[in-house]
Amino acid sequence: MTSTPPPATTSMPKNVVLVIIDDNTGSLELLSTALAHEGLSIFTASDPEEGLDIVFREHPQIVITDLVMPGLSGLEVLDRVIDFDPAIDVVLMTAHYTSESAVDAIRKGASDYLNKPVSISALRERVNRLVEEAHRRQRASELENQMLANARFEDMVGRSPAMLEMFSRIRRVAPHFRTVLVTGETGTGKELAAKALHSLSPVSNGRFVVLNCSAVVETLFESELFGHVRGSFTGATQDKMGLFEYADRGTIFLDEIGDMPLGTQAKLLRTLQNQEVLRVGSLTPRRVDVHVIAATHRDLRGAISDKLFREDLYYRLSMVEVHVPALKDRPEDLPLLIRFFLDRFSSQFRKEIRGLTQRAHIVLARHNWPGNVRELENVLGHACMMAQASTVDVQDLPEYLRFPARHPQAAPTLVTAPATDSETFEEHEKHLIAEALSRANGNQSQAARALRIGRDALRYKMRKHGLL
Ligand SMILES: Nc1ncnc2c1ncn2[C@@H]1O[C@H](COP(=O)(O)OP(=O)(O)OP(=O)(O)O)[C@@H](O)[C@H]1O
Ligand SMILES: [Mg+2]
Repeated sequence: MTSTPPPATTSMPKNVVLVIIDDNTGSLELLSTALAHEGLSIFTASDPEEGLDIVFREHPQIVITDLVMPGLSGLEVLDRVIDFDPAIDVVLMTAHYTSESAVDAIRKGASDYLNKPVSISALRERVNRLVEEAHRRQRASELENQMLANARFEDMVGRSPAMLEMFSRIRRVAPHFRTVLVTGETGTGKELAAKALHSLSPVSNGRFVVLNCSAVVETLFESELFGHVRGSFTGATQDKMGLFEYADRGTIFLDEIGDMPLGTQAKLLRTLQNQEVLRVGSLTPRRVDVHVIAATHRDLRGAISDKLFREDLYYRLSMVEVHVPALKDRPEDLPLLIRFFLDRFSSQFRKEIRGLTQRAHIVLARHNWPGNVRELENVLGHACMMAQASTVDVQDLPEYLRFPARHPQAAPTLVTAPATDSETFEEHEKHLIAEALSRANGNQSQAARALRIGRDALRYKMRKHGLL
């Protein structure tokens, strides 16, 4: 006898899961029969603890629970379900209806509050609405995943017209450029754009060498870029190759080019024109074949009028310019970037974060993201770390986003009032410090500056809060 193939298990859309908890078995049976319909998987429990076990195991979209039960009350069930996943719709039923208790339940996160005996038709209608809503969310999340897959360009994500235009520009420029200027506000993705230019260029097999011009000691700049010969200055105990030679047949990325000292700018211009470098202290030019990508978040034209940047170098660099748009100018990318970072942090933190609640989405959508994608990345990293449930909710977001009125400059400081009444000053301070550190990518000096306290004070507080 041949075995029949198992029935196909994938149905579109997926079944919505409903858990009903009621100590009255008669009422359980009645409800599950009345609500049974295609596309809905119903689980029942007459014991609230057992009901919660089912919730944790089956991860339903909807829970219907009685209010007064022996053991756990419906409100406690509500709390635990919402702790587990704030995206689950919880409907409470009670024979002891009062409008105060209804308001209380709704405030705690219940989706609905029904009077017992419940009218079957009213309940059906509400459950149908919740099922439709769950399907809509399922579709939206599938669509987001699909869109994310189609919205990748190298290591970047984007589908807004502004980003598509930039991707197309990078694709067209990459095979031909010798020098490119990448502009854009801080945190927009300039370095990723530079990497994409390199990966799509004919020298993609060569090195991609990064120099952050704001991090170089002025007197060592030229030696860093062009190298030096032994004895050319104190400390030059042997010949050293500079980054230009190191990047030969590859790409050098000069980040924050606006911070390059004027003298070095002149030498850079000469190198770009002649394709050769002079090591400091040497008169012998060496040929180099290097693609140069410079980046800046500053207005270089302004720097030219302030005599801080050479006009001739500017024109040489900006013959081809790639501009990375600010995040606030491309709101279409926000949901995709959110999904992208949630996926990344979920696997990084080994948590299964499925998404954001509607409320959390709204909080993120109304922010104007002065720190652009990097700020969003930090916010979501922080949220995924904090989230105890599988859906990120508003309380997992940093305080300055939840209460923007208290942070007019969107910069956390240590003088603001506690976030919520239940949050003590100590907790609040710990929050702010963790936030500032995450915004500064762990750089303590930067975090201390943002908090307007000294670095020692910061370290003291970090120790106090167990953050060190
Ligand atoms: N379109 C994008 N898709 C995915 N990740 C992005 C995107 N843009 C930026 N990021 C991420 O955001 C962070 C900041 O990007 P990047 O360092 O390239 O910005 P930047 O413009 O060079 O910033 P800065 O001006 O501060 O140097 C990085 O972690 C990067 O991976
Ligand atoms: Mg950068």
